[in-house]
Amino acid sequence: MSTVRFDPVSRLDGELVPPPDKSISHRAAILGAMSDGRVQIRGYLRSADTAATLEAVTELGARLARAQPRGASTDIDLVGAGLRGADPGAESIDVRNAGTLLRILPGWLAGQPRGSWTLDGDESIRRRPVDRVAHPLRRMGASVDFREGGLPPMLVEGADLHGIEYELPVASAQVKSCVLLAGLLADGETTVVEALPSRDHTEVMLRAAGADVQTANGRVSVSGMRRIELDEVAVPGDFSSAAFLVTAATVIPGSVLALRGVGLNPTRTGLLRVMERMGADVQVSEQTAPGGEAVGDVLVRAAELRGTAVEPAEVPLTIDELPLVALLGAFAEGRTSVHGAEELRRKESDRIATVVEGLRALGGRIEAAPDGFMMEGTGGLQGGSLDAVGDHRLAMLGAIAGIASREGVEVRGFEAADVSYPGFADDLRKLVKA
Ligand code: S3P
Repeated sequence: MSTVRFDPVSRLDGELVPPPDKSISHRAAILGAMSDGRVQIRGYLRSADTAATLEAVTELGARLARAQPRGASTDIDLVGAGLRGADPGAESIDVRNAGTLLRILPGWLAGQPRGSWTLDGDESIRRRPVDRVAHPLRRMGASVDFREGGLPPMLVEGADLHGIEYELPVASAQVKSCVLLAGLLADGETTVVEALPSRDHTEVMLRAAGADVQTANGRVSVSGMRRIELDEVAVPGDFSSAAFLVTAATVIPGSVLALRGVGLNPTRTGLLRVMERMGADVQVSEQTAPGGEAVGDVLVRAAELRGTAVEPAEVPLTIDELPLVALLGAFAEGRTSVHGAEELRRKESDRIATVVEGLRALGGRIEAAPDGFMMEGTGGLQGGSLDAVGDHRLAMLGAIAGIASREGVEVRGFEAADVSYPGFADDLRKLVKA
């Protein structure tokens, strides 16, 4: 386990392309594996999580025809196994730390009548609920089992599926995606009903692969298909990774930062709306939308902030950035609160507990609530030490807290950042002005 110290810096200045999007990379590998023919994935994220997905789909019969590494990304040609072609010989799939793989892949597997697979992963994955995907898949006709408490390992036995209408009990893009993928293999129509919109990368990519995805009034529908064909995916920069740098440049006086090629799908960028209310100076120029995903540049200048209340309806659009809202709150005038975010307790760590304990140890005046937290702004953070507890976003939160603090922060278990952003510390160093 590595301990890395992040000392205060005077400001950030420069420009950077953040690493490719993790959510879209997972989906490109899985939908690519489900496709007929060859898929070109330009800029697949090189990280621990997305490596697990690539390994899983190749074990299931997709063929890696070309892999050309380029810095933080790899250009990949993947030859799909086909919608009904998952290899039943794979039997056990190790998802490692990848919750998205754990929840989305069963949608494909559930529709393979000849196969049964066990999905399991690391210690943290064994605390991530899977009953949320088992319930709809069972209703569609598959047999899905899990450990007591709704936890992995999970056993998926494929079957001939039938379409269902499924109302999501919790806002989850992973569950929505899982049911939609199973819907491609089912008889008739499958509809997912979501009370609040969540990230829609699966819908965007399914359309690019030739599926007829209908969306209206919180309902997303697909019909059973014979085949899908995803030709090319260009993965944009990950907004969730960029968000750490956007936050740092906002709270460190004198900073100016340009981030290029950032994914700007509005179902991901709730943080920008929250930061705008707080008085942040963030300008966005949207350029292109390859394959339907919005991409653009983000220009950030340091600004004085005021507290804000993040409402439950904003939570799914900001879910992975809520730890950063807490950090921003420490630098803002007045109170910053988040409610309706009990799902944070089921992430790579219990992110309500770990963020509250972590930032409090650095001098933050923060209280936990069952469904969120309240931070009183005190003009910044003192510093100290923070344990990443194996959670990549906590490791990076500690780093940003450190460079913005008065005395610096020591992050224990900093290597957790590799799950989504392996070059994070180097990128940060490039932007720091002494
Ligand atoms: C993800 C969806 C979200 C998010 C996770 C990635 C995805 O999880 O927190 O980091 O790629 O679909 P939930 O679906 O559990 O909300």
